[in-house]
Amino acid sequence: MSVVDDVKQRIDIVDLVSQHVALKRAGRSFMACCPFHQEKTPSFHVDPARQTWHCFGACGTGGDIFSFIMKKDGIEFRDALRVLAEQAGVSTEQRRDPQEDARRGRLFEVNEAAAAYFHAGLQLHEGPYAHSADAARAYIEERRLAASSVEAFQLGYAPNSWDALSLHLESRGFTAEDARNAGLAIEGERGVYDRFRHRLMFPIRDDRGRVSGFGGRVLPGEAVGGGNGPQPKYVNTSQSAIFDKGAILYGLDLGKDAIRSEGRAVIVEGYMDTIAAHEHGFANVVASMGTALTERQVALLKRYTRNLILALDADAAGSEATLRGVRVVADNVDHEVVPVTNWRGVIRMQETLAADIRVLTMPTGRDPDEVIRNDSSLWPELVDASKPVLDYLFEAVTSRHDLHEPRERSVVSSELLPMVAAVSDRVVQSHYLQQLARITRVDEQTLRLEMRRPPKAVPPQRNLTDEGGQAPTPVRQDSVRDKREEFCLAILFRYPELLSEGQEIAPDTFGRSENRALFDAWVGSQQGEALEEALTADLRPQYERILNMDLPAYDDDAAVEALRSILWGIEQQRLRNAKRASSAVFADMATDDPATVAERARETWQTGIARVGLDEEGDPATAFVDDMEAGLRIHERLLSKRRGTGSQ
Ligand code: UTP
Ligand code: MN
Repeated sequence: MSVVDDVKQRIDIVDLVSQHVALKRAGRSFMACCPFHQEKTPSFHVDPARQTWHCFGACGTGGDIFSFIMKKDGIEFRDALRVLAEQAGVSTEQRRDPQEDARRGRLFEVNEAAAAYFHAGLQLHEGPYAHSADAARAYIEERRLAASSVEAFQLGYAPNSWDALSLHLESRGFTAEDARNAGLAIEGERGVYDRFRHRLMFPIRDDRGRVSGFGGRVLPGEAVGGGNGPQPKYVNTSQSAIFDKGAILYGLDLGKDAIRSEGRAVIVEGYMDTIAAHEHGFANVVASMGTALTERQVALLKRYTRNLILALDADAAGSEATLRGVRVVADNVDHEVVPVTNWRGVIRMQETLAADIRVLTMPTGRDPDEVIRNDSSLWPELVDASKPVLDYLFEAVTSRHDLHEPRERSVVSSELLPMVAAVSDRVVQSHYLQQLARITRVDEQTLRLEMRRPPKAVPPQRNLTDEGGQAPTPVRQDSVRDKREEFCLAILFRYPELLSEGQEIAPDTFGRSENRALFDAWVGSQQGEALEEALTADLRPQYERILNMDLPAYDDDAAVEALRSILWGIEQQRLRNAKRASSAVFADMATDDPATVAERARETWQTGIARVGLDEEGDPATAFVDDMEAGLRIHERLLSKRRGTGSQ
């Protein structure tokens, strides 16, 4: 059994949710006020038979045990898996498999060879790439990178070629498969080609100094295969068995001693920032490489110090979008998602990992690289002026509001209270509650009530019986929906033509977190990266199961049709579930003001209806999933009719 399934079997959603929310029984299910938004009448519903939760109020979304934790703590799937596995006593440790060790060792070797090759590429003064290598040398000079930095960080140049690296690796005894596994080469329609072409190369080493992957920066001049459009500023090795951006910090191999001796680490965003800092003697600087700080990165740093300082640029810091955790897509060409610091997540990491996290604000519009190269004496001043996360947030939020206005004070309160609520140390929490009380002129006790942290959730009644008073429902009835979700993924994985169709799918169509994570990986893998490379080990069993599903032999049109009909099936089921959930609540609200009930009904209806946009015609795919045998027969008939061959 996979770790994911194992954890699901052991953790009951009702138990889990009631650790955080006071659930109330309503028929065969449970209700509460939604923990994810403010409300007075409950619209949060937990279904023990399906092991799902659903908020049909403002959130209009739901999921399983993993998505509950992900949403509550603002963490990614794999972190949620780790948290729950620990709770369930399931080991997530990869069993040490000698074959797997050998495979990983091989990947490090390929990367090491590639790093050496790129590094040597900077010295090319003759041959076909000498001219384009000039561009790299000129760029290094323009950015004022010291020769010592180029050596220390082993910077390099990837020649402007489709296969220079691949050929070189081959001459060193590596196969095309090795290069592909390391994420250095891409399998295309016309064969394998190099991922990095005409780029300034930054080998990314893990804390032990092993090359796990690369970042490649765009350079002036045209790269082969660049097309006409603008190029992403940085390209990374795709996710591989040894490269996972969220688990690595750039520069940690070179910085760990300084971090330990100085007793603090500064986390910046970029390669260039890290290098500039090290060059000027600030070796305790590491980069998160443009992603929001993850729990794994904090855990990694904690081996050396518990004092962490996040360097943030002044604009992003404390902006409304940042606070709400909204992902902002940069309007520059590369469609890179700007990292969003999830502050509740940061505060929680601080609590659970016992780290001390401070925030350093950069002068507006400048990054550490610019600041340090311009006047390096400013850097230590900025570091010393860093503030505890919550102080920083208080300042950032209050500075955006006119505290003379009662309404604005109310906004301030609603933004900061969840942050304060995330602090588990009572003394520290009181300190900030008092501060918030002063600012908002609301007494502390009221704020405390508003934090709505039930002192101890009442354990729900677990001996559920059917209306007829029969035995409890023993089977978790999630199989049909799961099959639909898997079927949908199977079609997407198998028919690359469905790309644009598939990108239209709302991610929360997938109620099972591992399916949703697979869908996200699929969407994210569309820049020539193979999906397989983008997957973490936890998702592999599910991925393989889906790949091995038996599908009818669709032609392109039939595949589109099948996808639509299966989505329709999922949507219908979602509506049925929402309806069931809402009737449970309506029943419970019988004594409530009828206007509220009507309003709630309207909301439910709208959130349900808004998402139905699919044509109901032709639902064989749903039939296929509901009944494999019958479905296959229907498909056969449909397909042969389409081909004009008649059924045989
Ligand atoms: P920046 O855009 O700040 O890059 O992104 P930088 O390191 O300062 O580079 P220069 O100074 O513009 O040359 C910060 C980090 O985000 C990641 C990289 O790790 C980068 O160093 N990033 C950024 C990407 O992975 N992809 C991108 O397209 C952009
Ligand atoms: Mn920069």
